[in-house]
Amino acid sequence: MSILVTGGAGYIGSHTCVELLNAGHQLVVVDNLSNSNAKSLERVQEITRKRIQFYKADLLDRSSIEMIFEQNPIEAVVHLAGLKAVGESVQTPLQYYENNVTGTVILCEVMKKFGVKKLVFSSSATVYGVPKVVPIPEHAPLGATNPYGRTKLMIEEILRDLYSSDSAWSILLLRYFNPIGAHPSGLIGEDPAGTPNNLLPYISQVAIGKLDELNIYGADYPTPDGTGIRDYIHVVDLARGHQKAVDKVLTGHGIDAYNLGTGKGCSVLEMVRIFEKVSGKVIPYRIVERRPGDVALCYADPTKAKKHLGWCAEYGIEQMCRDSWAWNVQNPDGYGRDIHEEHKSQ
Ligand code: NAD
Ligand code: WQD
Repeated sequence: MSILVTGGAGYIGSHTCVELLNAGHQLVVVDNLSNSNAKSLERVQEITRKRIQFYKADLLDRSSIEMIFEQNPIEAVVHLAGLKAVGESVQTPLQYYENNVTGTVILCEVMKKFGVKKLVFSSSATVYGVPKVVPIPEHAPLGATNPYGRTKLMIEEILRDLYSSDSAWSILLLRYFNPIGAHPSGLIGEDPAGTPNNLLPYISQVAIGKLDELNIYGADYPTPDGTGIRDYIHVVDLARGHQKAVDKVLTGHGIDAYNLGTGKGCSVLEMVRIFEKVSGKVIPYRIVERRPGDVALCYADPTKAKKHLGWCAEYGIEQMCRDSWAWNVQNPDGYGRDIHEEHKSQ
């Protein structure tokens, strides 16, 4: 039997594939490569020395998704495929609702048709909107502040309705905090298109000399150094959380949400200092206006995942920065220029 990973060529998907393959699962990946490169999957196979069955297809293309279920004995789905840029979602909300929400509805309809009712879904801490308390427990009030966040909230609700209609479903909603870092091999990592929106990819590009300086969005927040505090989690820890979640959906029934975070907050200035230390580079920065929609503090209460999934994050911020830096140094143009191939041919 196989696990289908949607969005498996992406940043979190590729790391999740490594952990699922290492745990002995057979994998089928579907990805339309709208925000990724199939090279990531070649690298996953290089790391694990295991094979992936890859389909370049869009979740909105129902007949292709049905064909994948016809051709493979799928027992569960890890659903990561989606668009994720908050700012872009404000500009093109319909694209986000169609891709993320309709894509998920089509996936679930096909799963139902083929009798596959085990699903792990990539949700986000964004479903907590402006957090009322930190650390944030799973039962905290939900809300969204932008169309991207609303797609995640809507999908969570759709999946709850699906379970209410048929208790044979087994669904886990994984609410990720801020994934950063890369595989310690330096072979796979985050490869954002264009200028990065998120902190770590931006810092990395400043360190490597592609961008001049970091804009720090506000130093007047009610935090110890005035900059925003987030719960950064190593992408390998996050990927291992998926492996535990797959174990759980395969053996149980029900629907439940889990925070995947470390439970520890790190400020923007702390991150800059730690990145400087591990990379040996100076990160010039400028304090600018707050970014609209940002909150001061966001970090997880991760105790539920520890109790019920037997999972907790192991890596600290230094390791996250070290692995991000190694990925960037080894792949200055992401998957665009393959220095590993160059080395092999020398
Ligand atoms: P990513 O863009 O690297 O990966 C998403 C993948 O989905 C890409 O490879 C893309 O090509 C694919 N995809 C998108 N729409 C598709 C479609 N209609 N059909 C087929 N493939 C499609 O992003 P990521 O950071 O790996 O995020 C994975 C998931 O985790 C997303 O659902 C995202 O919303 C969620 N998430 C990410 C973060 C984060 O900070 N990275 C935080 C919380 C939640
Ligand atoms: C982190 C901190 C910024 C960039 C986003 C999404 C969220 C989730 C994870 C998917 C904040 C500051 C950033 C920069 C800065 N994604 N910052 N200069 O906003 O916590 O979360 O990614 O679900 O939905 O909103 O992450 O990395 O953008 O910002 O000062 O150039 O870094 O203000 O305090 P965020 P981020």
